[in-house]
Amino acid sequence: MIRPTSVIAIDGPAASGKSSTAQLVAEKLGFLHIDSGSLYRAATAAMLRAEKDASKWTEAAVLNAARPVELRAARTSFYPLLDGRAIEEEIRGPDVTRNVSRVAQMPRVRTWVNDKVRDAARSSDVVVDGRDMGTVVFPDADLKIFLVADSRERAARRLRQRGTPTSEQMLDDETIRINERDARDARQTVPAADAVVIDTTGLTQQDQVEQIVSLSKTRSG
Ligand code: CDP
Repeated sequence: MIRPTSVIAIDGPAASGKSSTAQLVAEKLGFLHIDSGSLYRAATAAMLRAEKDASKWTEAAVLNAARPVELRAARTSFYPLLDGRAIEEEIRGPDVTRNVSRVAQMPRVRTWVNDKVRDAARSSDVVVDGRDMGTVVFPDADLKIFLVADSRERAARRLRQRGTPTSEQMLDDETIRINERDARDARQTVPAADAVVIDTTGLTQQDQVEQIVSLSKTRSG
């Protein structure tokens, strides 16, 4: 069956710039952006509201807590709602970030996210970002990108994104946290055989956005 919509899949490890790049690529192409990580984060936030002690979490409890999560389309992207409300700030907080990889290991939670993402992609051209968009969720995506960057550079970007003053110690700590999350997410963070791997360590965001937009034009032309 021919898929009626186009899909660009952007995968990569923690803080590799997937989401911000995917958003800008989507805006340039007139596609909608879907951040699959935002759904893992929303499920984690919902579970945290129900039970703070993550050692007690079961797959069934997470799926139950995540039931009121929906993915809503806005002008340029989809975003998650919990009980009908936007939860952007809550899902980017340290409690969610610390616990999200645990939730992302649960196979039925992965199916729940994948179904929601595929559903959203049915009605519009999309740029999706995550870990396994090009391998598991959209194996026949029109273009697959895998972004990599040195972990210290990724830590520096994450800290800059927060916009607060930072020290060498904070950079060391953030690098450790990113390396730990990489290790926990390693299983689902593998480039597809046909992905274009882009090392963004020395690139500006504009460079990487332009590279992807031009690759997508070559593919569709
Ligand atoms: O903060 P970062 O950009 O690295 O991550 P994210 O895209 O917001 O995803 C948060 C977490 O969700 C990751 O650490 C993974 O554990 C999980 N995730 C996943 O397993 N598969 C995806 N397709 C997307 C996210």
